[in-house]
Amino acid sequence: MNPVYKRILLKLSGEVLAGAQKSGIDFDTVLTISKSIKKVVDMGVQVAIVVGGGNFWRGRSSGEMDRTRADHMGMLATVINSLGLADGLEKVGLDVRVQTAIEMREIAEPYIRNKAVRHLEKGRVVIFGCGTGNPFFSTDTGAALRAAEIDADIIFKATNVDGVYDSDPNQNPNAVKYDTVSFMDVLNKGLHVMDSTAASLCMDNKLPILVFNLNDPENIVRAVSGENAGTIVK
Ligand code: GTP
Repeated sequence: MNPVYKRILLKLSGEVLAGAQKSGIDFDTVLTISKSIKKVVDMGVQVAIVVGGGNFWRGRSSGEMDRTRADHMGMLATVINSLGLADGLEKVGLDVRVQTAIEMREIAEPYIRNKAVRHLEKGRVVIFGCGTGNPFFSTDTGAALRAAEIDADIIFKATNVDGVYDSDPNQNPNAVKYDTVSFMDVLNKGLHVMDSTAASLCMDNKLPILVFNLNDPENIVRAVSGENAGTIVK
């Protein structure tokens, strides 16, 4: 199958890496995801990745804590996930570079846009840690920002539902799934795709988002082949 995208930014939630255990990292799950990513890289697609940190820590639901500090902890959680994922990707034979928005040079490269693009051009997977590097921003916003910076064709947002619905499919059995939906609808109807900062950034930069389920590892291959494997927001 020929890919229809040259460069994608894959956004993985932290929970995806936790597999069935809901928190921490399940390495079997990481390997399964890594194998799917390898198939896509082997098709000639350049893959950059942003990972969330919710399997370890969630800044926005930290109760009484100072929000900035809580978000710093969340950014560190994304680094743990980035390193865990890098290990899985290397185990399946991929070249990987981790870059962090907050410098921690002993652990990873600092984020340098042109270097990231160079890595991608050489067929390396680049994982961006620390989100945007700022508190009060989600890792979805980090994904939108990095996707815009590296000129990605599309953001692949892997979730545990298979697309965008008009209401929560876990609560409402009659919820209807969209094949495509506009950014305006996402923003006006408050559809659960990304927070409004991230969605606006994508809209302003004409960056489509594919929301899909990674539980079926073939989905990502279908998606880069141009099949609508979930819901496309554009
Ligand atoms: P090319 O320039 O294309 O050869 O890329 P490269 O990443 O292979 O070369 P480079 O010499 O930049 O890096 C060699 C190794 O060191 C890679 O594994 C990088 O991820 C790693 N590396 C480079 N810079 C840093 C850094 O600032 N911190 C850490 N921890 N590792 C780094």
